[in-house]
Amino acid sequence: MKDVIEALNWRYSTNVFDQNKRLSTEDLDYLLEAMRLSPSSFGVQPWKFIVVTNPEIRAKIREAGYGQPKISEASHLIVFAIPKDINETVIDNFVKAVAKARGVEVDAVKGLRDMVTGSMAQKTEEGRRAWATNQVYIALGVLLTAVAVRGIDAGPMEGFDPKKVDEILGLAPLGLESRVMAAVGYRSESDPNANSKRMRFPKEEVVIEIK
Ligand SMILES: Cc1cc2nc3c(=O)[nH]c(=O)nc-3n(C[C@H](O)[C@H](O)[C@H](O)COP(=O)(O)O)c2cc1C
Repeated sequence: MKDVIEALNWRYSTNVFDQNKRLSTEDLDYLLEAMRLSPSSFGVQPWKFIVVTNPEIRAKIREAGYGQPKISEASHLIVFAIPKDINETVIDNFVKAVAKARGVEVDAVKGLRDMVTGSMAQKTEEGRRAWATNQVYIALGVLLTAVAVRGIDAGPMEGFDPKKVDEILGLAPLGLESRVMAAVGYRSESDPNANSKRMRFPKEEVVIEIK
């Protein structure tokens, strides 16, 4: 296990994966657990993590992803999806689960339900989608950190047609929409990205201190 800064210096967005190296079940479970534990606004967790290993489906997603080879060549592909809307059913499920986890009646978490319902009512449907999308990116960030800490590689991707991917994965009947995805596995020695110098703005340019 690496220290987080060491891990973030080691990682890079992997483009070419070693097709012979697969993630172990333990490693995959570790990554999914890190994603599951990600924080979200109000704790609503408006996400599903879709792990795609089927080669035919991966080939179709690759077509919908501008032919990016990592979509089908990495050990695993994880698609991050959000509910089509944060409606009463989503909020109900959430509130019931919170009550269960706390060992209280649903009535005892009425304040939380009112807060989430009120906040969602202030947004348009598009605004609620944008809100859910923001949450899913937190889980993506956690994944990108978790892989690095564990010495695993990942290639995050927004470069795909979400409507096509939704269709390939049959997400509409599940009330879901894809947002972002990540190829996960192990870097190939031939990956040119591995040696390209990464740019990060210096601290003075990205940190504003207001004292
Ligand atoms: C949300 C997100 C979407 C990205 N989408 C793509 C993509 O579709 N294809 C790709 O090759 N790289 C993609 N990248 C990789 C970025 O180009 C890369 O993170 C950036 O250049 C910084 O390099 P580094 O991750 O190696 O530090 C994406 C990165 C993020 C965080």
